[in-house]
Amino acid sequence: MISHRPTVPPQTPGSFAEQAAPASFPSLRMRRLRTSPTMRRMVQETRLSPDDLILPLFVDHHAGGEASIQSMPGVMRLSVERAVEEAASAAALGIPAVLLFGLPESKDAAGSGAYDSDGIVQRAARAIKAACPELVLITDVCLCEYTSHGHCGVLRDSGVDNDRTLELLAATAVSQAEAGADVVAPSDMMDGRVGAIRRALDAAGYQDRSILAYSAKFASGFYGPFREAAESAPQFGDRRTYQMDPPNAREALREIALDVQEGADMVMVKPALAYLDLVARARAAFDLPLAAYNVSGEFAMVKAAAANGWIDEKRVVAEILTGIKRAGADLIITYHAKDAAAWLREGSF
Ligand code: PBG
Repeated sequence: MISHRPTVPPQTPGSFAEQAAPASFPSLRMRRLRTSPTMRRMVQETRLSPDDLILPLFVDHHAGGEASIQSMPGVMRLSVERAVEEAASAAALGIPAVLLFGLPESKDAAGSGAYDSDGIVQRAARAIKAACPELVLITDVCLCEYTSHGHCGVLRDSGVDNDRTLELLAATAVSQAEAGADVVAPSDMMDGRVGAIRRALDAAGYQDRSILAYSAKFASGFYGPFREAAESAPQFGDRRTYQMDPPNAREALREIALDVQEGADMVMVKPALAYLDLVARARAAFDLPLAAYNVSGEFAMVKAAAANGWIDEKRVVAEILTGIKRAGADLIITYHAKDAAAWLREGSF
C-alpha cells in the first residue's frame, strides 16, 4: 500500500484545524456568499412566511361597515360582516389566524360586554367561524375595551381588584370559547389569570381550546394608537400596577415561567421591537411556541415615516418582521400581516 504522507510539521492538538481553516482576510472573504441574489437566497438563515403572521381585527358594535382609525392608516374598525370579509381575505393570503378585539355597544364599571354571550366579539367569532372554519380564531381576553374607566379589571378603592377580575376574565374566555374561539389570549396582566382561565375552560368542557398568554406585557407608550382604535385609554391613572415595568428582563422571564406553570399553551412578549432581547431570551429558556406583538405604535411609526417618503415601507416592514422572527418568535401579531403576506406571495419582500 502506497501511502502519501503529506509533509506537515508535527501537530500540536488543535493546530491542524487552525491551519485548515482560512482564518482571516485575505483568504477569508465574507463577501463571497453575497455575490448574487441566488447565492444570498441560498444562504438566507431566516425566512418569513405567511404562516408566521397573525392579523388583529377590531370589531365595533357601532361601525356601519367600517370606520378608519386616524393613527393607524389602513386599519379599520369593522362591523361583523366586514370582519368576516377581512378574516376570509387573510385566510386567502395564507395567514393562519386572526386575533379579535371588540368595541361593545356600551361600557360599564364591570366590563359586562366582555362576557356577554351576545357581545360583539362573541357575535363576530360565530360569524367568522361559520364562514372560515379552517382559520384559527384567537380572541383577546381583557376588560379594558369594556369598562367605563378603561382599566383592565374591576376597581376597588380606586385600584384594580386582581382576584375579582379573575372571575370575569374566566367568564369572558368561556363565552368566547362557546362562540367558537380556538385560542383565548389574556392581555390583562392580572396574577393567576392563566390558571383561572384554564380551570374555567376545562370545567365548561373546552379542554381542547388553547391559551396564548400575553406573559411579558410591558406598560408601554407604544400602545397609544390601539387605545384610540379600541377607545380603551384609562380614564384615570395608568396601567403600571399590572403591566410590567420596561426595564425588567429577569422579571419577564419569571412571568413567562408562571404562565407556563399555570397551563399556557403559547406565550408572548409585547411590544416586540424595544423588547427583542426578551424574545431571544424567552426563545432560549422555553420550548413553547413564542409570539411577539408588533404593536400599534410600532405600526404607526412605519406608516407615518412612509407617508412622508422618509422610508421605503415594504423594505422596512420586511426587516422588522424578519428581525422579530430572527430574534426567536414563532408567531408575529402584526397590523402589517395582510400586506406582508401579499408581498411574500409575489416574492417582492
Ligand atoms: C388590552 C390590549 C392592549 C393591546 C392589546 N391588548 C392595550 C393596552 O394594554 O393598553 C395593545 C395592542 C397594540 O398596541 O397594538 N389590554
